[in-house]
This record gives sequence, C-alpha cells and structure tokens, in this order.
Amino acid sequence: MHERPFIVGNWKMNGTRAMLSQARAIDRAAQNLMRAEVALAPPYTLIHPVHREAAQIGVGAQDCHAGDEGAHTGDISAAMVADAGAKFVILGHSERRKAHGEKDSLVRKKAGAAFAAGLQVILCCGEPEQVRDEGTAQDYVTKQLEASLPKEIERAGENLTVAYEPIWAIGTGRTPNVEEIGAMHRAIRKVLVERFGEDDGAQIRILYGGSVTADNAAELLGADEVGGALVGGASLTADTFIGIVMAAAGGADSAAS
Ligand code: PGA
Repeated sequence: MHERPFIVGNWKMNGTRAMLSQARAIDRAAQNLMRAEVALAPPYTLIHPVHREAAQIGVGAQDCHAGDEGAHTGDISAAMVADAGAKFVILGHSERRKAHGEKDSLVRKKAGAAFAAGLQVILCCGEPEQVRDEGTAQDYVTKQLEASLPKEIERAGENLTVAYEPIWAIGTGRTPNVEEIGAMHRAIRKVLVERFGEDDGAQIRILYGGSVTADNAAELLGADEVGGALVGGASLTADTFIGIVMAAAGGADSAAS
C-alpha cells in the first residue's frame, strides 16, 4: 500500500454553506491524523469556501467540462475549478456515466483538460452488477480504465489516482470481499504499469469506493494494492468520515493524542 492512505470524501449533490461546519471539523481532525491524506470534493458552490477554511485537507471538484471556455451554459471548466481552489477533480464517476451519458472518450478528454489545468485527476471505474455476476468484471474494468486514460499523458505519478468503485456497491451497503478487491486492484495495477512503466505505474494510488464505513474501512483498506478510499454517504458528517480516516491512519498521531 502507498505510504499514506488517501481518503477522499465525495459530497455529491449535498451541502450548502450550513455544511461548512462539517468541513471545518474534518479539517481539524485531519491535522491530528497526519498518517492519512484527507480530501473533500464538495459541490462546485462550496469549493472556494471549503478551500478558504481548510488548513490541512485537499479540496477538489466532482467533475469538469472538457473544453477551456465558451458557450457551454451551466458548465464549469477545469481552469475554473482550479481557480476556485480545487487541487483535483473526480472524473468518470458512474453516476455521471449513467445520468449524463458520459462515455470513456469524454472522460478521457476531461482528464486531458484537467491535467492541462494543473489538476490532479481521480479517475473512476467500476462494473455493473450483471458484469460481476457474469464473471467478467476484471476485463470490463481494465478496458474502461484504458479507454478513459488520455493518450497524450506519458507520466502520471502523483497526478493520477484511480478509484475502483463497483457500481453495485455504491450507496447499497454491499461491498466485494477483500480477495475480490485485491484481485481487481492488482489487475488495475497491471494496466498502470503497462501504460506508464514500472516506476511511475507503481506510484499511482488506487482507491476503493463503494459503501465504505468506519466499521469496514480497516478491512477494506487492508486489501492488496488499496491506497485509500473514495467515500460518498459516510463523508457527509464529520463523525462518520473521521471514523474512516482514523481507521486508515491506524489511530490518532501519538504527538497529538
Ligand atoms: P458511497 O459512495 O460511499 O455512498 O457508497 C461512494 C461513491 O460513489 O464515491
């Protein structure tokens, strides 16, 4: 596993300024849990307010447009979210693939735009339940990942994180077991090493996402090649999210506790 687990909260379409108190509490806790790297992806409207108040946590966006600027009513570019304080952007989440018809080719363009704007990318991939049942999940996920990676990028390193999120595990309370997660993460690692070479490909963090809670985090994060977690529902309150960060960090820092 990567030295410092990366725990990212995806607030999805949740949060008004009233929720800034949760972000503040998460940020405070993260200062005492330095063995984990903590980040939040609030809705666009809260990127700047969370960024302004955060002393420790990273702040990111949940999506961006593939273009630089222009006549795209309601859309937001990578440079705009960077300007608001985002350090990273989540791309290719299954909810966007489903609700907005985002194909691998569009995710790839968005990733190219994000890298060009200096953002780190958390690239999501994951199989639907039927594919898991058919026994072809690894093939599905590795093809999806290969097709979603921008071709022009030669080095990724810290700038790319992959999140494996089985669609059937998102928001359902169900998760794959540790062996299944490890097997998928090894298959993803193989793709990254083939694409970026031994050194670079080995550095890229691979997160697990889908029904991660404080109760299952330690077990799921212990799976082979898991470098952290992408957390939806359980990131919405400081209490539940900090529980996951604590599990990832193996408890509070000794100096702070
Ligand atoms: P969940 O969502 O933790 O609520 O299952 C995960 C995600 O969609 O990133």
